Amino acid sequence: MFKISLMNHSDLEEAYKIELETNPSPWSKDNFLSSFEVGHKSLICRCNKEIVGFLIFSLIKKESHLLNIAVLKKWQNKGAGTILMNVFIKQSKTMGANRALLEVRSKNKNAIDFYNKFNFIKDAVRTNYYTGINFDDAVLMSLDI
Ligand SMILES: CC(C)(COP(=O)(O)OP(=O)(O)OC[C@H]1O[C@@H](n2cnc3c(N)ncnc32)[C@H](O)[C@@H]1OP(=O)(O)O)[C@@H](O)C(=O)NCCC(=O)NCCS
Repeated sequence: MFKISLMNHSDLEEAYKIELETNPSPWSKDNFLSSFEVGHKSLICRCNKEIVGFLIFSLIKKESHLLNIAVLKKWQNKGAGTILMNVFIKQSKTMGANRALLEVRSKNKNAIDFYNKFNFIKDAVRTNYYTGINFDDAVLMSLDI
């Protein structure tokens, strides 16, 4: 049902719309563009023609950093995020990574539960890392891959 492919420039607009719908402090359109231009790896998940989710990561030496992942609200909890994560982990390994890293808002219980399912472990908490109206601590998590 779900199909994963690399994100194209023409997919950026739709990915940005998913970001706006799902992230309380969304990346800007420019963030998407520059992430794409600096060569971060971006995956999209489609169901038929519709883009239902995306995942962006960056490989630095042997560490693969999960920079962003989101699935449209109406498609959440239906397995799209799991498929994106599985491809992310597999591709990271293929590209030579032995560790996956991420940071998540401490109040984002759905996402923390989701990462726990992949056996990510909590390494540290950065207090008050996220500022502004949606202030929060950042939980740093990692997984040996
Ligand atoms: C986190 C996210 C990417 C997961 O993608 P998904 O397609 O919903 O996840 P899946 O369907 O593959 O996996 C479901 C698991 O994720 C968690 N989960 C995802 N959405 C959930 C929801 N709405 N309510 C409760 N749990 C949820 C649960 O642990 C669930 O496991 P379970 O089925 O055993 O209960 C998605 O919920 C999302 O886009 N959230 C908003 C953006 C976000 O928070 N991104 C992470 C930033 S660090």
